[in-house]
Amino acid sequence: MPHNDISREAPALAGVRLRSPFFLAPIAGYSDAAFRSICWELGAALCYTEMVSAEAMARGNERTKVLLARDESEERYAIQLFGAKPETLGRAAAIVAAWKPLVIDLNCGCPVPKIIKAGSGSALLRDPALIGRIVAAMRDSTDVPMTVKIRLGWDEASINYLETADAAVKAGASAVTLHARTRAQGYSGTADWSAIAALAKALAPAGVPVFGSGDAASAPGAFRMLGETGCAGVMIARGAMGNPFVFAEAQAMWEGQPAPAFSEAEVAAIAARHLERSVRYMGERTACVEFRKHLCAYTKGRPGGAALRERAVHCSTVAEFGAVLDDFASGRY
Ligand SMILES: Cc1cc2nc3c(=O)[nH]c(=O)nc-3n(C[C@H](O)[C@H](O)[C@H](O)COP(=O)(O)O)c2cc1C
Repeated sequence: MPHNDISREAPALAGVRLRSPFFLAPIAGYSDAAFRSICWELGAALCYTEMVSAEAMARGNERTKVLLARDESEERYAIQLFGAKPETLGRAAAIVAAWKPLVIDLNCGCPVPKIIKAGSGSALLRDPALIGRIVAAMRDSTDVPMTVKIRLGWDEASINYLETADAAVKAGASAVTLHARTRAQGYSGTADWSAIAALAKALAPAGVPVFGSGDAASAPGAFRMLGETGCAGVMIARGAMGNPFVFAEAQAMWEGQPAPAFSEAEVAAIAARHLERSVRYMGERTACVEFRKHLCAYTKGRPGGAALRERAVHCSTVAEFGAVLDDFASGRY
């Protein structure tokens, strides 16, 4: 049943009033400091790090700490951890609290076989009581509020998101995000938004916000999810890849303003800023290799994009990317 009574009040999370209901989802290999800060500048109300190994954090792995870097322009963010053991996640939560995230999120949705084999990610969905123990361990080890990101269930025969969310909330979770697919679905099929609506309704009496994830692929899509499900916030993942502008569009729609249009020159300027910040965190060499996929995403669906992508995959320096971006900005390709 459509809600259509979209609240113009932005959701509060952990006692903080956010500026809109539109968030950048955790995206492995994508939602790093550089990209998050761009999304934040364009209006995302909260951006999540990619999933970070609790085991590696608890061991003090220096390379893993790089994933927690936050750009100075990014006022607030959320850190997502994955793991399987309450003690380890408790220790990791206490450690990452030093980065001052607004919340620490527990990944209960990753469907990647290697992660599941270790009992993490969506493997946790098979044991809601364990999710409760993990959230409790995290809650007891730091003052930073905890949240969880779950899926519908392990497979179609074991849909248990209401039970999973209940275990997390009883243990102290401050919000629940539902990616409305099963582990078995991976990223295929369509997300079941009616489940997001059911969860929002179930957790409303406890005052726990529910965030929806899955197929909010554009600003109108995110807006529609808010209206159809009554969720407090919408996470955008694939729809933001190469398109951080989706946050400016969603916020404008939400405020009843016309959606801003971004010219090629503006897109190129944002992409250049993205690359510049990536260099700050990864160094030129790695940043340029990583940026090939970002530039391909920025130019997807744009006129002349194919020619630009052909050039982008051969770029190895900021100067080389600069030449491609200059041509993109001025339409010379
Ligand atoms: C490449 C990729 C990486 C992802 N990494 C994570 C992750 O680290 N943690 C997580 O909770 N979800 C992760 N997700 C799932 C997304 O956060 C989101 O729930 C899912 O893609 C559905 O939303 P969408 O339709 O907006 O893409 C990832 C998704 C993709 C496509």
